[in-house]
Amino acid sequence: MNYTLETPLLTTRLMIRLAERDDLDALFALHSDPGTTRYIPHMHWTTRADADVWFARLRVRREQQSAVQCVIVKRTTDDLAETIVGTAMLFNLDVASGLAEIGYLLGRGHWGKGYATEAMAAFIDFSFSTLNLRRLEATVDVRNVASNKLLERLGFVLEGVLRERWLAASELQNINLHGLLKREWKP
Ligand SMILES: CC(C)(COP(=O)(O)OP(=O)(O)OC[C@H]1O[C@@H](n2cnc3c(N)ncnc32)[C@H](O)[C@@H]1OP(=O)(O)O)[C@@H](O)C(=O)NCCC(=O)NCCS
Repeated sequence: MNYTLETPLLTTRLMIRLAERDDLDALFALHSDPGTTRYIPHMHWTTRADADVWFARLRVRREQQSAVQCVIVKRTTDDLAETIVGTAMLFNLDVASGLAEIGYLLGRGHWGKGYATEAMAAFIDFSFSTLNLRRLEATVDVRNVASNKLLERLGFVLEGVLRERWLAASELQNINLHGLLKREWKP
C-alpha cells in the first residue's frame, strides 16, 4: 500500500490534490493570516521562508509515508485560473493501527460556503476506502466553534477534553479530541 493520494479527488465544486512547491505562495497567504491560524499550533507563518521549511518537512514525511498533505482547489473550466481555497491533511499516520490525525484550513474568504464539509467528506472517504484506515482523530481548541461544528456534521464523536494540551498563539489551549471509526462513516 502506498500511503499517498495517487489521483486528485473531485467533488461538485472542488478538487483535492497533493500540495506542491508551486502552491507555496498561495499557502503563505493563508498561513500568514493570524485569524486563520489562531487555533492551530505551529502553523502560523510570518515569513515566506516558513513556507519553504514546511515544504521541506512535508517532503520528508511524504517519503516516510507518515503524512498526506493536500490543497483544496476550486474547480473551474479554466486550469490557469486555479484558486487554492485551503488544505486537507492526514498526519501521524500509524499504519499498524490504521490510525491517522486529520487537519484542515480554509482561507478566511472561503468560510461559510460549505467548502470544508464538501472537501473533508471526500478526504475522509478516501482515508477509509482507499487507504483503508480504521480510525481518524481530530484535535480542536474547544473555542474553535466552526471546526468543532464541522467535525460534528461529518459524524465525528467528541471523546474527551485534553486540558492545556498545547501552546499556540502564546497561550495554553484546552483541546477537544474527536474520533471517527471506519464502521461509523456514512459517505
Ligand atoms: C474550520 C473551518 C475549515 C470551517 O469552515 P466553514 O466554512 O465553517 O465550514 P464549511 O465550509 O463546511 O461551511 C459550513 C458553513 O457554511 C454554510 N454553507 C453555505 N453554503 C453551504 C453549502 N452549500 N453546503 C454546506 N454548508 C454551506 C453552512 O450553513 C455553515 O454555516 P454555519 O456554520 O453558520 O452553520 C474554517 O473555519 C477554518 O479554516 N478555520 C481556520 C483554520 C482552523 O481552525 N482549522 C481547524 C483546526 S482544528
